[in-house]
Amino acid sequence: MSLKDDFPILSREVNGHPLVYLDNAATTQKPQVVIDAMSQYYSNSNANVHRAVHTLAGEATEGYEDCRRWIKSWFNAEKAILTGGTTEAINLVAHGWGRANLQAGDAIVLTEMEHHSDIVPWQILSEERGIEIRYVPVLDDFTLDMEAYIASLENAKLVCVVHTSNVLGVRNPVDELISLAHKAGAKILIDAAQAVPHDRIDFEQFNADFMAFSAHKMCGPTGIGALLVKNDAFEQMQPFMGGGDMIESVTTSGSTYQKNEHKFEAGTPKIAEAVGWSAAFDWMSKIDLPAHHERLLNIAKWTAEQLRGLGFTVYGRHQSGDGAVVSFLHPTIHSEDFARFLDAKGFAVRTGHHCAQPLLNRLGITGTIRASFYLYNTQDEAEKFIQIVQYIVEKFA
Ligand code: ALA
Repeated sequence: MSLKDDFPILSREVNGHPLVYLDNAATTQKPQVVIDAMSQYYSNSNANVHRAVHTLAGEATEGYEDCRRWIKSWFNAEKAILTGGTTEAINLVAHGWGRANLQAGDAIVLTEMEHHSDIVPWQILSEERGIEIRYVPVLDDFTLDMEAYIASLENAKLVCVVHTSNVLGVRNPVDELISLAHKAGAKILIDAAQAVPHDRIDFEQFNADFMAFSAHKMCGPTGIGALLVKNDAFEQMQPFMGGGDMIESVTTSGSTYQKNEHKFEAGTPKIAEAVGWSAAFDWMSKIDLPAHHERLLNIAKWTAEQLRGLGFTVYGRHQSGDGAVVSFLHPTIHSEDFARFLDAKGFAVRTGHHCAQPLLNRLGITGTIRASFYLYNTQDEAEKFIQIVQYIVEKFA
């Protein structure tokens, strides 16, 4: 049995060829146990949470809260707010913490490497509140300009930085970024969407104030993610979505809110998704993540070297700790055409700006082709990938 056998989709064909799925930085595939858990939930336990005493409601509540227990123990976190994904988690910081704690003239620090989900919420808040946004530049070696980072921290209230770039795979020096932000008196939010699939982060030790990530990039379902929050930051947050379940009491003259994470989970939550995510954690708990990460990084590194040899520009470094992502461009063949040729042979890759236009502007390009590897990918697939790439280059360049 190979790990691949746990993923039903990986036995399908695409355009008459076996699927080779290399778009894992966008979303990972789901093992059968995740699909079964969600289907079982809808077949046997479907009900709403927290509001009824009947058996099904109890099972639904238990299923939902079980996911929170998984998250808290997996990441060693005291507070885990369930959200719709990384984007919603970052918006929750912007509107739940930012609105309550940032005033006109306050500064926040972002980097040129951020995904749009860690830029646009801050731009919206900046327009609303008159907050200054400072961007830390990316250097030619694809790393952050640390001198500029240190300078940007002066009187900053908050830093928002990506752990591992979805375009470059570069892992930022997060420990240093966190400790420098705290020394300067700023809170720090880490976008860990591309990190948690490969790295089991201990949130308490990590010492960031907020960490956002999604289930679907770590074998779980789409539509659910989490925001981990340190206790003192949690106490400084106000809800930005009001509704059922997040209140203690409501009268016509006002409302009081719950004290725990439910305060930020208004309305019917993502129950089936939470059940599916628990199954994904359970499945992943049997995987040696660090060993796989090293294996996948080696595959990415090998792929990058081959691509350079074939005349491609590769954007990234593939150093220890980096993500298993290879972004590349051919000097003459357009990336969209390239991806279509690859699809015709069963290979799934992403093209375009990867929701990181400021980074691509910085690199002087409008898009890349991106191959991203995950647990079920193999060196053999990478070799087949390079063979097809070589064939496309020979035929069309
Ligand atoms: N952020 C995801 C990606 O990089 C969707 O593809």
